[in-house]
Amino acid sequence: MPEPTANVRWHAPGLTRDERRARLGQRGATVWFTGLSGSGKSTVAAAVERALFDRGHHAYLLDGDNVRFGLNAGLGFSPEDRDENVRRLAEAAALFADAGLIALVSVISPYEVQRSAARTSHTSRSLDFVEVWVATPLAECERRDPKGLYRRARNGELPGFTGIDAPYEEPVGADLVLAREPAPLDELVGQVLDLLAARGVTAP
Ligand code: ADX
Repeated sequence: MPEPTANVRWHAPGLTRDERRARLGQRGATVWFTGLSGSGKSTVAAAVERALFDRGHHAYLLDGDNVRFGLNAGLGFSPEDRDENVRRLAEAAALFADAGLIALVSVISPYEVQRSAARTSHTSRSLDFVEVWVATPLAECERRDPKGLYRRARNGELPGFTGIDAPYEEPVGADLVLAREPAPLDELVGQVLDLLAARGVTAP
């Protein structure tokens, strides 16, 4: 439970997590997809959301790009803004997981310290958190360049682009590493579903 500050106190909830789980028939969790721009993390996350939904689960995708239109509007790509972007996503996902949903977060989250803080914000509340590194190599992301951003970054029109002149720290504690080699989407989705089943989030 958080420390009370001078003028704000933690208000004990009237509903327990177990009650919410029983009503939804599932245990909440967060699946955190990290990887370079163009790695395919949003594609995999959206396909996992679809697969979970089709199997009767309640899941919700928090896509880094989309969240920048609302909750994270106004944040840019400085290291500080990226920290705040990732922190808010982690907190939002933890609330969703606490509510009993399977939150799927797709965000570059380029720094290890950000990802480990996201994990801690879950585990400190006894919420399940799995980190999936969509490890598509930079050369392949750049070849795909779905939004033309790598080309612009190489031309010097987009300074501070992740993988070009801003860092992507490779995950050291990922629970699953995907897409180092090209693989069909349903195979990647299957690996995520297997992990969730192995962790007891979904029935095997
Ligand atoms: S993060 O670094 O803060 O985790 P986030 O996942 O929200 O990034 O947003 C990344 C998306 O913003 C990319 O997929 C890309 O479309 C776009 N983008 C715009 N500028 C940059 C930049 N400088 N670095 C990386 N991505 C950028």
